[in-house]
This record gives sequence, structure tokens and C-alpha cells, in this order.
Amino acid sequence: MGEERGLYIGAAVSHQALPADETYREILGREFSMVTAENAMKFRSLAPEEGRYDFRDADALVDFASEHGMAMRGPTLVWHQQYPEWLTEERFSADEISQILRRHILTVAGRYRGAVRSWDVVNEAVEEDGSLRDSIWLRALGPDFMAKAFRWAHEADPQARLYYNDYSGEGSGVKSDAIYLLVKQLVDQGVPIDGVGLQMHLVLDAHAPIEDMKANIRRLNELGLEVAITEMDVRIPKPVTPKKLERQAQLYSDVIQMVLEAQNLREFVLWGFTDRYSWIPESSPEADAGLIFDREFQPKPAYQALHDRLKAATAQ
Ligand code: XIL
Repeated sequence: MGEERGLYIGAAVSHQALPADETYREILGREFSMVTAENAMKFRSLAPEEGRYDFRDADALVDFASEHGMAMRGPTLVWHQQYPEWLTEERFSADEISQILRRHILTVAGRYRGAVRSWDVVNEAVEEDGSLRDSIWLRALGPDFMAKAFRWAHEADPQARLYYNDYSGEGSGVKSDAIYLLVKQLVDQGVPIDGVGLQMHLVLDAHAPIEDMKANIRRLNELGLEVAITEMDVRIPKPVTPKKLERQAQLYSDVIQMVLEAQNLREFVLWGFTDRYSWIPESSPEADAGLIFDREFQPKPAYQALHDRLKAATAQ
């Protein structure tokens, strides 16, 4: 899959599986045209100790992408999770926090200048009720941390596309309205933001209606912003049955059809590709099987559904 209509089809990559599993590497290189780092580009992975960066896992992914002619997304420059203790133990002043963030963004986005097509500059800054989420950045810098982060990312790599990324904001409702207003404000202030990432972590039979997603994508486009699908998976409440796998395939099919019809949407990225290494069993033990290859690397109905839709679109 890939290349159809200039659409990048991507997968998040586990930095443990990449060096260890040849089948994983082979399918990743064959089926996808974009990769993103599941964890390797998060703050704690890159800066486990104060004043020392460790780029090995992130570099390995960048090298893999370049060897296979794949584009890259980069997650995530600013988040509220996966930070090292040296940073969160509250001994820094607001000024110092600002400097640390600036340096981090310039260092990381600067190192991968030209290699990363799109950065998730700010990830998950909005709570489900529409308020801003507590984080070291919000506490020290107020809501302005977002505008600053985008400006620093733009300084580090003027060519990269810069995204605000979040979950459960795909359709309509309080959270997607809050995200809309937030990015509208950034656009109105002249902040260099290019797009909004819809993570698309869906639950089978309990997700936003596709029509609402379409309307949301349209209103974001009307602000002059691109949209990307950045972390799709469809977790199935246990037990996983053949019928549920068929409904999952239908949902993947509906989403890729929406993607193909949307304006300014060129990145469709899954949060992994095989259930063998998915985050779902750990984060949502009541569910499983969110991706398009099973644990034995066999393509599931969802793979076939995506494949067929993309093929039909290319033939048109
Ligand atoms: C998850 C990873 O998949 C896990 O391995 C890790 O333990 C926690 O983070 N939204 C995001 C991603 O933006 O960074 C998260 O990734 C999943 C939810």
C-alpha cells in the first residue's frame, strides 16, 4: 500500500521490534510509505539524563525510513507524558522551563531537519471537557507555551509541517470544538501551524460517526489547515470474533474512503501495524486486535479492506 494519489500510508514503529524482528522490518518496508516513532522521539527517550541526549533509537528509525524511501512524522515535541524525572521534579523556574523547552525543540527538530515531513509539535493539550490539560509547560508558561513551541519548531525546520495532535477530537462535541477554537486562535495570531492531527484511536461500535468526522475535517480545512490521521487503531472489546473483525474492516474502509475524499489530507498513519506489538493489550486490557496484521503477521480483513479501497481509488 502507499503512494496512491500522493497519500502517505504510515505506521508507528516500535524501537524494540525494529532491530529485533526481521519479519516486522520486511512488512514495514514493503507495505508503508511513511513511519512515525511510537516512543523513540519522546522527551524521556531522547533526554533520559539532564544535559545528555541519546538519539540512537530515533536515528535508527530515520535511517530505516531513508533506506526505504519512506517519509516521516515526528512525535512529539511537547506533551504531558513520558518525561524524565530530572525535568519533572519541580526545581526549575518558569524561565528555565522555557529555555529547556526551546532548547529541546531546536535540538530535536534541528537534528532531523529535512528528514521529518511533519512534526506533532503539541500533543494532547486539551482535556475531554475542553479545558487545557495540566502539564509542566502550562504551569510554567501558561497557554502561550503552544504558540512558543510552534515558533521554535518553525525556527528549527522552516520546511517541516507543524501539527497540533489529539485524540477523541475526530468528530463533533466539546473536545473537538475546543481543539477547533484553539487552533483557530493560533492561526489568527499568525503562529506557524500547518495542520491538525486526528489520532483516531477508535473503539469498535463506539466511535464518532464518520459524517461528524467529515464535517470536522472540512471546518479545519476552512481555517486553511491540513488534517492528518496520525495514530489509527480500532480496538475490539473482548472477545475478538470473526464478525467483529469484519466490522473492524468496514470501519477501516470507511475511514480510508473519507481520507481519499478529503481536501488537504495526505498522511494516514496507523499506531503500529501488527497486533503483536500494539500498545492496546497494555493500555486497554479489556480490548485487543486493533491493527491490520494479526500477531502472526497475517493480514486481517482490515488489511484487505484498506488494500481494496486504495486499489479502487488508484484505478479511477
Ligand atoms: C503510547 C505508546 O504506544 C506506548 O508504547 C507508551 O507506553 C505510551 O504512549 N497517544 C499518543 C501516543 O500520542 O504517543 C501514545 O503512545 C498513544 C496515545
